[in-house]
Amino acid sequence: MRMSFIAAGSAAMVLAAGAMWQPSLGQRPTGAGADAKTLRSVESFASIADTQARSIALFEEAGKVLQHPRCVNCHPVEDRPRQSDTRHLHQPLVVRGKDGHGAPGMACATCHGPANFDAAGVPGDPHWALAPASMTWEGKSLAEICTQLKDQRRNGGRDLTAILKHATEDSLVKWGWNPGPGREPAPGTNAEFGALLAAWIGTGAHCPLR
Ligand code: HEC
Ligand code: HEC
Repeated sequence: MRMSFIAAGSAAMVLAAGAMWQPSLGQRPTGAGADAKTLRSVESFASIADTQARSIALFEEAGKVLQHPRCVNCHPVEDRPRQSDTRHLHQPLVVRGKDGHGAPGMACATCHGPANFDAAGVPGDPHWALAPASMTWEGKSLAEICTQLKDQRRNGGRDLTAILKHATEDSLVKWGWNPGPGREPAPGTNAEFGALLAAWIGTGAHCPLR
């Protein structure tokens, strides 16, 4: 009796999850393109015997997330965020402002609520803000992003443990996998991303050479 209740419950959950995913399923590319939407497991790098080479390969895989529009749109090179999978300049014109929350009168929270507003396609989070100028990734190589990410003068004073914590617990990062309809989620899952970064740190956090 109990078993069948659980089975029915999880079947309903699977159905609900299936229904939730339906809109993006149609857009999912096949073949080589699908690789950009997934993340390789940490285990699949075990065959790289050289620790530094393995560390770099792990970071490059995590880099698929760092360089994805869901992250880059908020870590842009200019003062202005970008929008959508095509990464066009934010409309209307908004700027970072003093603290990343926008200029007076044009604060992010004027339009971005505490959660995604799917009916209007406006993403949201209680802390919605543009990343500081020292943390911009747009147009940079993974080698540059890696060096910057490790630099406590530019990364908000974080050691590697704090970077990993931010990457797995911060709500703006997590939003990358829950961006609402019409936006492609960041590749893989947040947990897989975290596992790659943890393994990168565990192998000495080496950066790509160029
Ligand atoms: C809505 C805007 C927004 C989005 C989307 C966003 N970030 Fe950020 N990010 C920020 C802000 C703001 C900070 C600064 C927070 C702080 O220092 O406390 C930041 C800081 C960071 C940091 C701290 C270290 C550093 O040097 O950048 C990491 C790591 C990070 N973000 C990762 C990501 C990843 C990965 C994604 C995509 C999955 C992402 N972010 C998406 C706004 C965003
Ligand atoms: C006047 C309203 C308004 C203000 C103010 C505003 N936004 Fe937006 N923003 C929007 C709307 C609407 C969208 C959705 C449009 C779309 O993606 O096509 C959006 C989308 C975004 C996206 C795109 C997310 C993605 O990956 O597609 C980012 C990033 C963003 N806003 C950042 C900010 C930041 C940071 C601020 C404050 C500095 C801000 N916005 C202020 C209306 C606004």
